[in-house]
Amino acid sequence: MMRSYSAPAKVILFGEHAVVFGEPAISAAIDLRSRVTVRDSAENLLNGMPLRRDSSPYAFHALELTESSPMEITVESAIPAGGGLGSSAAFSVSLVASLLGNGSPGRVAELAFNVELRSQGRASPIDTSTAVHGQGIFVSRETVANELWQISGPSGIWHIGDIRIGRMNIVIGYSGQGAATGPMVERVRKLCERFEVAREAISEIGSISLEAKRALERNDIVTLGSLMDRNQKLLSVVGVSTRRLEKLIQAVAPYSYGAKLTGAGGGGSIIALTDRPEKAAGAISLLGGVPYICRTGETGLRREEDEG
Ligand code: PMV
Repeated sequence: MMRSYSAPAKVILFGEHAVVFGEPAISAAIDLRSRVTVRDSAENLLNGMPLRRDSSPYAFHALELTESSPMEITVESAIPAGGGLGSSAAFSVSLVASLLGNGSPGRVAELAFNVELRSQGRASPIDTSTAVHGQGIFVSRETVANELWQISGPSGIWHIGDIRIGRMNIVIGYSGQGAATGPMVERVRKLCERFEVAREAISEIGSISLEAKRALERNDIVTLGSLMDRNQKLLSVVGVSTRRLEKLIQAVAPYSYGAKLTGAGGGGSIIALTDRPEKAAGAISLLGGVPYICRTGETGLRREEDEG
């Protein structure tokens, strides 16, 4: 038996951090993919090496949660790890789908979410649900229009809704600094406990996500750009932006409709919505960042090959 699936990376367009407090968020699949192939084997192998729980927690938990027999797993990925682009989610989703063979999208999304939860100790369904569905998703604590599925986690239920996102140019600028999501989430929680202004920023980010959903539906790039700029200002109010991220954002501004950090912040990446991707990428390189010129509207989980 041999099976192969691929899944895309994601960027959070709106609502990171606020989503932890129950506000809605929007994320989009981008055209960087990870592909996993599984084959029956006498022992568990990952890219030819014996698979161990401590060095390969995602693969370990995926095998355990799907109750799979031993497998030889091969992964090829174009998604940079550690940049907040959902590389582990694309891997977990492709692997769970390959192991299940014929899992429904909702089942794959739920299992892959649990792979991330067990491997990281915390997880949000954004990365895994985007990797399964592709296009765009709207994540909410309340029932959503065009609901795809629900994910239950330790903090309750998320509703995942479909958003059609057309082809847009997104340039990612990786700051070169890794970002750990857990400590950044904790930092925002503490700030919100102490300061009214931080709580207000979080709820305003929620309103921006709702406005952005409508702008996406009518493909209004100009409004989306200005909403990204507003979202960024609020993210800096809650203390997750850095000088380096701000510099990258300033550098791409002349060539962009809008720009913001994406994901946890404290490092990681920025995104720029632009129709001059080469210029934006050049500005990122000049500052020593790593640019990725990407397109939205990417397909989600996809079967690549099947044998036996
Ligand atoms: O670092 P990323 O891209 O996985 O994004 C984290 C998003 C947060 O909202 C900060 C955390 C979460 O659990 O949603």
